[in-house]
Amino acid sequence: MKNCQNLSKLLLCAFVTTAILFSCLGNTFAEDKPVKKDRALERTRDTVRMLDDVYKTAVILITTHYVNDEDDLPAGTAAIALFDAINKKGWHEVRLLDASGEPINDENSAKDAFEKMAVKQLKSGEPWYEEIIKKNGKRYLRAATPIPVVMQKCTMCHDNYKGLEKNDPIGVLSYTIPIK
Ligand code: HEC
Repeated sequence: MKNCQNLSKLLLCAFVTTAILFSCLGNTFAEDKPVKKDRALERTRDTVRMLDDVYKTAVILITTHYVNDEDDLPAGTAAIALFDAINKKGWHEVRLLDASGEPINDENSAKDAFEKMAVKQLKSGEPWYEEIIKKNGKRYLRAATPIPVVMQKCTMCHDNYKGLEKNDPIGVLSYTIPIK
């Protein structure tokens, strides 16, 4: 009789364990339900990362090799001219923004709500800020990346960058690019 009681306890225990296991597995599968990936958005983010690297590398190289005193054409000015040309050709929009609060050119201050929020977020240490917008039925990615005081030479013309940590963002690149 005792053995019989033990056996039924064992069976009950096995049943409860199996039930718990299945309910856990069920939950796991429910959470892992494959979310449809937005591949076009992923590709656009990748394009922005690539452009960001190309633009920033160019500015550093130009500053290193061609900007030796305050009268030389600053890489920032050259970058703005390049951004205008790229924008006019319809590839994407990109703006060089101030994040220090003291821009050389007021035109470079954050203008709309996205840019203002981007400056705020990147200054607080975020490496990336983005929003997806719709214009005339088309989707666009707006993305912003930080510009730190990359080199000593930057302070030659931007007095206010002196004394900042090398990683403090003093500027932002703000992109608006179609999601195709
Ligand atoms: C030779 C002087 C000079 C040097 C060196 C220089 N800049 Fe500038 N920078 C300027 C000028 C002038 C502008 C305004 C350009 C315009 O709006 O046409 C500017 C604009 C900027 C802006 C936009 C905000 C603003 O102040 O108007 C940022 C951000 C910026 N520079 C970052 C840098 C960084 C980072 C470096 C170092 C890699 C650097 N600059 C080196 C002269 C310089």
